[in-house]
Parts: sequence; structure tokens; C-alpha cells
Amino acid sequence: MSNPTLPKKVRIVEVGPRDGLQNEKQVIPLEAKVELIQRLADAGCPNVEAASFVSPKWVPQMADSPQVMATIRRRPGTIYSALVPNMKGLEAALAAKMGEVAVFGSASEPFSQRNLNCTIAESIERFRPVAKAAKDAGIRLRGSVSVAFGCPIQGEVAVSAVTDLVRRFIDLGCDDIDICDTIGVSTAGHTRTVMEAAAGVFPIDRLAGHFHDTYGQALANIYASLETGISMYHSSIAGLGGCPYAKGATGNVATEDVLYLLNGLGIETGIDFEKMFDAGQFISRVLGRAPVSRASAALAAKRAA
Ligand code: HMG
Ligand code: MG
Repeated sequence: MSNPTLPKKVRIVEVGPRDGLQNEKQVIPLEAKVELIQRLADAGCPNVEAASFVSPKWVPQMADSPQVMATIRRRPGTIYSALVPNMKGLEAALAAKMGEVAVFGSASEPFSQRNLNCTIAESIERFRPVAKAAKDAGIRLRGSVSVAFGCPIQGEVAVSAVTDLVRRFIDLGCDDIDICDTIGVSTAGHTRTVMEAAAGVFPIDRLAGHFHDTYGQALANIYASLETGISMYHSSIAGLGGCPYAKGATGNVATEDVLYLLNGLGIETGIDFEKMFDAGQFISRVLGRAPVSRASAALAAKRAA
């Protein structure tokens, strides 16, 4: 039954092929990445974060992003997005015909140094030409606010640090802005406070919640965000991932679990749960481990019975 106080539709940004796979130490064959991305798009994901054009020395797993994008069969209507930290990345993203690029800044100075090797202000100056070139090319621009709910180095992050970065992303012309719990430490009340503050400076229908599930709070944080009116969420198939620069951080909330919650609430996503389950099983076989998703485990047990 639908709940009148929650959004009726939610847009899922599937980040498994990027946020998930970027953290894997083992070599993942190109064909497996390609098949995963195709399965996610075929399941109805409107936006698949499929690539990252960052330094291959920093994130080796994403070095084959140009080849991945050149090989995939593209589904009409699906937005394929990529992370870009600078102009070099933007040029590669344009060559790969991405539909959207995401710049990623930090709400804390020490994490900015660790993830981007520069201060927050310097990162914004690097993003400025990226934003202009993306606009000139007519592709979408997203801004991700990392460590918005807590930082692995400094600990607490002030809400004003989050809204400061949101304002800088507005100034760059971002279409959407992601509020990210990089290390998965937030709880529902804090999530509500931060999301309400972000919605005070940027249209709520263009804000996204990006929750890692380190402390098992991601679904509760999504529910708190839904109650705030946020209708865009990032999630990762089979709960893949972590962050190479945040030790101990686990993957994003599993897409299968988010779909189970949203389906139960009668909230539309346009995504086929069974096909996502199959995609999660597929990539987990490639990685040689079980999906980090309770909904996937439950469905697997039901099918095996
Ligand atoms: P740097 O070393 O300070 O930069 O890195 P540099 O400009 O001196 O370049 C060093 C080398 O990297 C040079 O190569 C450049 O050509 C090359 P060399 O001359 O030594 O052979 N390089 C590049 N190569 C390919 N593509 C590029 C590129 N840029 C430079 N775009 C830099 C600065 C930003 C490049 C580096 O710090 C970097 O790549 N950082 C990326 C870190 C990253 O990808 N982190 C994980 C993703 S963020 C995340 O997961 C969080 C998120 O999910 C949200 C959340 O949960 O919070 C989005
Ligand atoms: Mg992330």
C-alpha cells in the first residue's frame, strides 16, 4: 500500500560497476564488467555509474573504463555516468560518450587531501573548467559531497561544511547533488538533519542520498531521507564496494535491499527486482563470494527450497 507522505517515485542511480568494483583487488575481466552494466540497464536502471576517469595509479581497477564504455551495448534512455576529478578525466569521459559526469568533493579538508590530493578550494577550481566543458558538451553534471555525515580522519563533520560544498556545486551548475555517507556512520536522526539542511539550499528533487552500509544503517537512513522528501538514491548491486581511501568502509547499500523496501512501500522505480537479483548473483559468481544483500540471500533460499 502506498504511503501518502513519501515520494511516489524514486530514481535509483546504480553505482555498483563504479563505487563497487573500484574497490576490488582482484582483476575483473572486461567482459564481466560489460555484462554487469548491460544487465543493470536491461533490468531498468535509469542511471548506471559505469566508469571512472581518475588516475589509474590511484584506482587501478577503473583503468579500463574507456574499453568498457567502447564495448557495452547501450540501452536507449539509460544514462551512463562516470566520475571525473579534473579536465583529463573530463576529456576521457567525453571521448567515451558518457551521458553524465560526476565531480566529487569533500566536506572535510583531510579527506579532500586523501581522496583528491588537494584542498577543498583547490578541488573546486579544478572542477570549474570540468563543469563548463560538460555544460558546453550538453551532458549532465553531478556533484558528490563526500563524508557529509562523518569523516574517517577528523570524525564529526559540521552541517555547515556540507551546505558550503552544496553551494559551491550550485555555483558550478550541477544538475544533481549527492549527499554521501562515505563511511556509513550516519543514523536516521542525523541523516534527517543533514538532508533538511541540504534541501534548504538546493531543490529537494535534485538531491540524492548515497549511503554506505558500514554500520548497517543505510536502509534506515534511506527511510529517514524518504520522509524528508528525497527521491533519488545511489545503491550498489549485491552491496559491492567500499572506498579505497576510507579504511574499513563497506559497500553501498545493496540495490536489491533498497528495491525490496521501496516495492513494499508501493514506491515506483521502474526496475525489475528479479533481473537485479540475477545481476547480483552474476557478479557475485565472478567475484567468488555471496552478495552482501539480505533480500538477495532470502530470495536465493526461497528459490533453492
Ligand atoms: P595527483 O597525483 O595529485 O595529480 O592526483 P597529478 O595531476 O599530479 O597527476 C598524477 C598522475 O596521474 C599523472 O600521470 C597524470 O597524468 C595522471 P604521470 O605523469 O605521473 O604518469 N592523471 C590522470 N590519469 C588519468 N585520468 C585522470 C588523471 N588525472 C591525473 N583523470 C587526482 C590527483 C585527482 C588525479 C588523483 O588524486 C585521483 O585520481 N584521485 C581519484 C580518487 C578516487 O577515484 N577515489 C575514489 C572515488 S571517490 C568515491 O568513491 C566517493 C563517492 O563514492 C562518494 C562517497 O561515497 O563519498 C563518489
Ligand atoms: Mg561512495
